[in-house]
Amino acid sequence: MSELDLAIRGGTIVTASDMYKADVGIAGGRIVAISGELKGAREEVDASGLWVLPGGIDSHVHVAQDSGPGIMMADDFASATASAAAGGNTTIMPFALQKRGESLRQSVEDYRKLAEGNCVIDTSFHLIISDPTPAVLGQELPALVKDGYTSFKVFMTYDDLVLDDAQLLSVFAVARRERALVMVHCEGYDAIRFLAEKLEQAGNTAPYYHAVSRPQVVEREAAHRAISHAELIDVPIMIVHVSGREAMEQVRWAQQRGMKVYAETCPQYITLTAEDLNGLNMEGAKYVCSPPPRDTDSQAAIWEGITQGVFQTFSSDHCPFRYESSEGKLNAKARTSFRWVPNGIPGVETRLPILFSEGVSKGRITPQKFVELSATNHAKMYGLYPRKGSIGIGFDADIALWDPTRAEILRQDILHHGADYTPWEGFEVTGWPVATFVRGVLVYEDGKVVGKPGHGRVLERGISAFTAR
Ligand code: URP
Ligand code: ZN
Ligand code: ZN
Repeated sequence: MSELDLAIRGGTIVTASDMYKADVGIAGGRIVAISGELKGAREEVDASGLWVLPGGIDSHVHVAQDSGPGIMMADDFASATASAAAGGNTTIMPFALQKRGESLRQSVEDYRKLAEGNCVIDTSFHLIISDPTPAVLGQELPALVKDGYTSFKVFMTYDDLVLDDAQLLSVFAVARRERALVMVHCEGYDAIRFLAEKLEQAGNTAPYYHAVSRPQVVEREAAHRAISHAELIDVPIMIVHVSGREAMEQVRWAQQRGMKVYAETCPQYITLTAEDLNGLNMEGAKYVCSPPPRDTDSQAAIWEGITQGVFQTFSSDHCPFRYESSEGKLNAKARTSFRWVPNGIPGVETRLPILFSEGVSKGRITPQKFVELSATNHAKMYGLYPRKGSIGIGFDADIALWDPTRAEILRQDILHHGADYTPWEGFEVTGWPVATFVRGVLVYEDGKVVGKPGHGRVLERGISAFTAR
């Protein structure tokens, strides 16, 4: 009797450093053999002509997150993780949001309850800190880091979330002490408010003006401020969803000075522009996200940053709202001003095809770089490595079988998310996930999610490989 539960035969394994043909043997949910000549297994999968990739890890997604009165995210944990599986992902990292006046620990417990028993793929929470009280900084955060919540996000904008400079510095100081990784949303609150009020007074209230109210200089200023605070405290930071040339250049400047400033970018910043917010009627609301998509020069700058190693991770920033919904993009107040259009777009299912197609298929990046940006670096950045993020002996058998030549047209009706649209309707891609395995169990195959909610685990994480001193 074979000891292997599953053998994946005849595929081409791609890791962040290698690309070679071999079979993969799986037992007990882990990769236990990689060889040209595996003996029999209880189950066999023929991967001839396919690439065997580490399943995507999307380290920036929002699921069932509190979005203000009357507004609901379009995905719960079942639909978000099903959609992620169909996009070739095996782990997502959503956020447990602390509302002001509430305990961080309680927020974590609440979000865990929503996730547990409902996830198709593995899930692990970052924290969002909106109220860094002495109790949060002194007791809750250090205890939560020890419990495996080793990364947290802070915001430099949004009424309900913004931290002032003193608060940012105090969170950075705790991160340094605990070796946690702080993710920073870099957009300047006061400048945005100033611009938004001026636009509204002039009657410029359509969704397009969301982009006008948050120009690159607002992101650049905040990025520089965050980098300066990080230098002061001497702490590594991750600047998330970098949208264009100006913020990218701030990150590159910091890195060239030897600082541990890391950065993430997303599909919207290599494929969309602010002009997409300029659709007929309210159509532009479908593209309202923060920071907003920029222009073609910024798209080129993001590629420059990707190929030069300025960016470590490529995430979706999946933050789905339904368009035709009073709880979503077209809520009652949205027509009165862009300020009331919920920020965020769906993208967990389309992240990998877009990066693969625009990157590998168009010859901008190697297959190995694709794996690094979509899986390996997420695991290293957020303390999941070497359990996840590569194809190697001992890793969880989290695998995407990928057809590098398959052409598809992205359309709402082939996707599995809870949103009622995709910003990439009609976008042509080459390269497509055909099957996804989480810890050796098939959860998605050729258009169908076959995994059961509850197969996905809620994971604690270790300390980031990038905050090591
Ligand atoms: O517009 C966006 N990106 N919404 C999600 C929240 C965030 O800032 O990441
Ligand atoms: Zn953000
Ligand atoms: Zn986000």
